[in-house]
Amino acid sequence: MDDAGVDGRPRDPSLAAADATDPPSGFREQAAASDADVYEAFAAEGPEAWRRAADLLDWETEYETVLDDSDPPFYKWFPGGRLNASVNCVDRHLDERRNQLAIRWFGKRGERRSYTYLDLHREVNALAAGLRDLGVEEDDVVTLYLPMVPELPISMLACARIGAPHNVVFAGLSAEALATRLDAADSSYLVTCDGYYRREDAFNQKSKADNARLRADVDLAATVVVDRLGDALDVSLGADEHGYESLVDAHDGEMVEPVARDATDLLFVMYTSGTTGRPKGVEHATGGYLSHVAWTTQNVLDVRPDDTYWCAADIGWITGHSYGVYGPLSVGTTTILYEGSPDYPDRDRVWDLIERNAVSVFYTSPTAIRSFMKWGAEYPDRHDLSSIRLLGTVGESITPKVWHWYREHVGGGEAPVVDTWWQTETGAIALATLPGIAPMKPGKAGPPLPGIDATVVDEDGEPVEPGEPGYLTIGAPWPGMLRGLREGDERYRREYWVEAEDGWRYRTGDGATVDDDGYITILGRVDDVINVRAHRFTTGELESAIVGVEGVTEAAVVGTEDGDIVAYVTTRSDVEPDESVRAAICEELATAVGEMARADRIVFTPDLPKTRSGKIMRRLLEDITRGEEFGDVSSLRNPEVVGEIESSVRDV
Ligand code: PRX
Repeated sequence: MDDAGVDGRPRDPSLAAADATDPPSGFREQAAASDADVYEAFAAEGPEAWRRAADLLDWETEYETVLDDSDPPFYKWFPGGRLNASVNCVDRHLDERRNQLAIRWFGKRGERRSYTYLDLHREVNALAAGLRDLGVEEDDVVTLYLPMVPELPISMLACARIGAPHNVVFAGLSAEALATRLDAADSSYLVTCDGYYRREDAFNQKSKADNARLRADVDLAATVVVDRLGDALDVSLGADEHGYESLVDAHDGEMVEPVARDATDLLFVMYTSGTTGRPKGVEHATGGYLSHVAWTTQNVLDVRPDDTYWCAADIGWITGHSYGVYGPLSVGTTTILYEGSPDYPDRDRVWDLIERNAVSVFYTSPTAIRSFMKWGAEYPDRHDLSSIRLLGTVGESITPKVWHWYREHVGGGEAPVVDTWWQTETGAIALATLPGIAPMKPGKAGPPLPGIDATVVDEDGEPVEPGEPGYLTIGAPWPGMLRGLREGDERYRREYWVEAEDGWRYRTGDGATVDDDGYITILGRVDDVINVRAHRFTTGELESAIVGVEGVTEAAVVGTEDGDIVAYVTTRSDVEPDESVRAAICEELATAVGEMARADRIVFTPDLPKTRSGKIMRRLLEDITRGEEFGDVSSLRNPEVVGEIESSVRDV
């Protein structure tokens, strides 16, 4: 282990130091990845090593090379290869497990629906035929604006079948956000629903979609509307609007020849918060993305066909795409889709579902686990959770305390807990301990996966010493990586890549440290992105909404460790910062971004702390919000404001 840690890659992770926890030997014996040589093999073979991942898929035409890196940073994975994602997620499982459950859905009102792989095949084909009938052709982008209902993954797979990239927009996003994404993706087809239940109430999603249609520049050629609410809400359909159920009924039994896509062809676009206020369209290619997702589902989450697996993330975001849909279905397992909330009808809902379904692998976020912890161990302790073999977490750092609670009360003190670090842009998991091989270190995301050349570097791009903070970067390309941005090559290059002496490096936007064993601890974003309540926002997109409110002059937004959004706001001198301004700010955030963007706390302040060059010191505001010590503020242009803000925070 002499030089391990400096470049972030452990030479032998099985030698990791004392703060590490080994998975039980019973787990190791059955794990998909149990041979520590895999690290060396990847290091020795270079990109060729990723054939292992591509081999997990069915290819219609074998790829010519693993990686074309002749034009960095525009990398092409598995060029020459042709495949179809819906074939890989559905058709190829029919021989061995057509009657096995593919999706088990639990609706908000206690409804249940199950789809075997055969059912899934039939409905995906019928919908694919229906979409074709409505005019959708290969490469047309279809926008999906649906809550957690089976029709969402089915629509994704139907699009993939006919070579139409999907553009899923989280159902909770506002009409304005949907309109922006329809335009940005140049998408003239939409699949949405009449509405869905939020808590007890039927909520009208169609009216949001109608609103977006009025705002968008693109003309929608056809809209498909899922009837989620039945009699609870009647929506009338216009001439170019079609009920999902009648479309599928009309094409029931039709089989659609899957369109063979180039490995480098677009599978989907996903809009995420960028460094500017406008979202950016992250593009994922079919072959590399699916290979990486399948490989990590099998080797990191240890999922296999006879599992019942549950990824609790919403399909509206990347985790739901990769590990709620494409990962589990590509490996042919049974996946749970849950529409409801974790505390309804009671706070043991999640544990009840795990027990009833004998869930063996459960993947969720630290935000959720913190809520479970707050509610109390008596809820999981009421249930038999012995079916759990592995637990996963994603989305933000998990503190050792939360990690241990999760393992103790959900994992029976035995199951490995894999902390997985990745991003919308990486497409699939990039840092994590391979649970059958390496020890886990609570609080640390883990070493880079084999084949992922992650390094923590300083301002000059030099690797930092163990324990020193730096920027997390990735040197060599990896299969799940974004193939580009919808906004074009220049933006893609500028946003993510730096050319260093030893080649191109991808900038993750995260700060990190690395320990002597090469395990990486994530310190949080170093750019203007905040991750709260499992959503990713740019401070700019929230702040520009707030300053759009009449009377507001400036705003700075920070996220707290508990997942709250705190807004610091100044108003014009003639405007009284009262409850009506507060309400207007929350309304504007909900309209411009979505309900989940409402600020939890709004702190009115006469001024915001600024550097001499006038830049708002958001870091200082973060420290104040969290009640942490902060250093000398005398270099600020307006140091006197700090005391005022501190007392305002206490008053709120
Ligand atoms: O800051 C990191 C954090 O989430 C960011 C990516 O957000 P998004 O693209 O929305 O994808 C979230 C789910 C993959 C990262 O830049 N993040 C993600 N996983 C972890 C994490 N921070 C700490 N530990 C993690 N395991």
